[in-house]
Amino acid sequence: MSAGKSNASSAARRLPNREAALDSLYNDISAKNMFPFWATSTDVAHDEIKQLMGTQKAVPHLWSYKSDIEPILFRAAELVTMDDSERRSLILVNPGLSPRRATVSTMYTAYRLNDANEVMPPHRHSPNAIRFGLTGKGNFTGVGGEDITFGPGDMVLTPVDTWHNHGNVGNEPAVNLSVLDLPGHRHRIGCRRPAGRGRLGLDAELLDEAQRNDV
Ligand SMILES: [Fe+2]
Repeated sequence: MSAGKSNASSAARRLPNREAALDSLYNDISAKNMFPFWATSTDVAHDEIKQLMGTQKAVPHLWSYKSDIEPILFRAAELVTMDDSERRSLILVNPGLSPRRATVSTMYTAYRLNDANEVMPPHRHSPNAIRFGLTGKGNFTGVGGEDITFGPGDMVLTPVDTWHNHGNVGNEPAVNLSVLDLPGHRHRIGCRRPAGRGRLGLDAELLDEAQRNDV
């Protein structure tokens, strides 16, 4: 290190209230939506390299379906209608990755309750999805215009950017489990098709129109 650099470094360390001034500097940087990339130590609050690399780690965690998940799914079905929202999914958020919506670092898992005779509008997104039927006989996912009804033990795939919608054509609630690779995606998380759809949402004519309009 040159003498000039050494002197400057020493002078910085002798500044009065240096820690308070650094805290104030970091607060101002954050408030202006910038990121300070000059990691100086790993034992300070601003551990820049770890933050930049997103090195949060998932931790082991147990959710109980019967006591944690199912009661909330049914309460949500009572309170949140498809007029309020086009989806009613309960995402399992790993405590080590919160507030990211991630169950493990590269995937999230969500439980969905489709109420009897409930049909949701179609959409598409860059994440791929795997869906497992858990309860009920009328769960369906429309994939690229084909309505696939799936029951307990069945699996349906909705690949990247495929138009799809969800619903239940049965007379009892149906629960399914979705696994998406969403945490790894940074572009086009999702988009929704405009209103106007067939009974199960994805008739070929409207699908063509949506694809032309890239919605
Ligand atoms: Fe979706």
